[in-house]
Amino acid sequence: MASGHSNQIFISFTFLLIALGAYLVHGQGTRVGFYSTTCPTAESIIRSTVQTHFRSNPTIAPGLLRMLFHDCFVQGCDASILIDGSNTEKTAGPNLLLRGYEVITDAKTKLEAACPGIVSCADILALAARDSVVLTNGPSWVVPTGRRDGRVSLASDTANLPGFTDSIAVQKQKFSALGLNTQDLVALVGGHTIGTSACQFFSYRMYNYTKVGNGVVDPSINPAFLPQLRALCPQNGDGTKRIAMDTGSPNKFDTSYFANLRSGRGILESDQMLWTDASTKTFVQRFLGAGLNFNLEFGKSMVKMSNIGVKTGNAGEIRKGCDAACNGVGVWLLLACDGVTRRAARAMLLFLPACDSASSLCHGPCLCGLWAVSINADFSLQATDLVADSRLPPIRRVQGDLGFFLDCESGG
Ligand code: HEM
Repeated sequence: MASGHSNQIFISFTFLLIALGAYLVHGQGTRVGFYSTTCPTAESIIRSTVQTHFRSNPTIAPGLLRMLFHDCFVQGCDASILIDGSNTEKTAGPNLLLRGYEVITDAKTKLEAACPGIVSCADILALAARDSVVLTNGPSWVVPTGRRDGRVSLASDTANLPGFTDSIAVQKQKFSALGLNTQDLVALVGGHTIGTSACQFFSYRMYNYTKVGNGVVDPSINPAFLPQLRALCPQNGDGTKRIAMDTGSPNKFDTSYFANLRSGRGILESDQMLWTDASTKTFVQRFLGAGLNFNLEFGKSMVKMSNIGVKTGNAGEIRKGCDAACNGVGVWLLLACDGVTRRAARAMLLFLPACDSASSLCHGPCLCGLWAVSINADFSLQATDLVADSRLPPIRRVQGDLGFFLDCESGG
């Protein structure tokens, strides 16, 4: 009896170590067709959702492309940009004008109906950005999937994002810190071939470019373009007014954005610098026909960007709704394991949400729950609340925890 009890403690301790070990495994990588068996319709549901929204509001296409960029550069591509709450990334200055959140919410709702708890918000965003580019006549590329959603979203982390006054040296440094080279930088900023910018981000170039002197015009603006630009964004006018970043073809994914840089018609200062700096100018020239196919290279760089810092395996979670973290599986601590049979085990699990209450990720306080969990013959989990509390996150099937339950079986 006593020895049975100590065996049980030993087994429990082993399981605890395995559980924690499994939880800490990171970076198993994304792969093409991750949902092909678990949710075969995932990609088509996302595509049709993006298409529907695009038909009624084409601005969601540039919106979603930019949203993915802002997600990937902060905490990796883990949908941290989507989390609501005070001081989350969403609330930070560079993210205030992001648009297209409703598309992700809509896609997630449909996916939860079709395949509950399977498709991450991070994958939805990566796929929706690709689908958006396709809708603007841009290239398509294959998106490796299997990202999991992050639990951390802090406004203060957005300092990583490049700013529109950043020099090329700073832009290159911010991209290379995330594994993106100079060609990736030029190709990805080429995403400005679609979408618009608010006047507030470049008016200073036309009226008060203080880098040269008070009241001076940025000398890199083509003088023939200046009156047109001034008419679009009058001095002391509405800073929120939006104008095309690729003058003449803002809704079409093409190389005319680069042609505009060549003729001094870039909108943002950071854009025009791609032409004034020799190290980036060479790629602009190549994308304009001298040896590099922009569409192809853009797709390749997007795959690189959308793999920055991805959480896979047991890292992160699959959020239930994209706008709130802390509703998934945390660290599983096995307290006891008894009644083991060949086909089913029963275990008591203590749930510790792995969120940081200081970062205000949860809508309410972070909660702990206690469940009795049984394992079905197909190794899916069934849970019963031991402490009934409607605020607790509902338990879902936990993939990846199978290993230690199988151990449990052999230990019994
Ligand atoms: C040096 C790097 C970059 C800087 C400084 C920068 C800056 C900006 C700024 C200031 C805007 C205007 C925002 C607004 O008024 O709402 C903008 C818009 C946009 N950016 Fe970037 N960006 C950069 C890189 C990128 C990258 C890598 C992508 C995508 C791969 C991208 C995609 C977009 C798109 C599509 C828009 C239009 C958004 C819309 O119409 O809603 N940007 N960017």
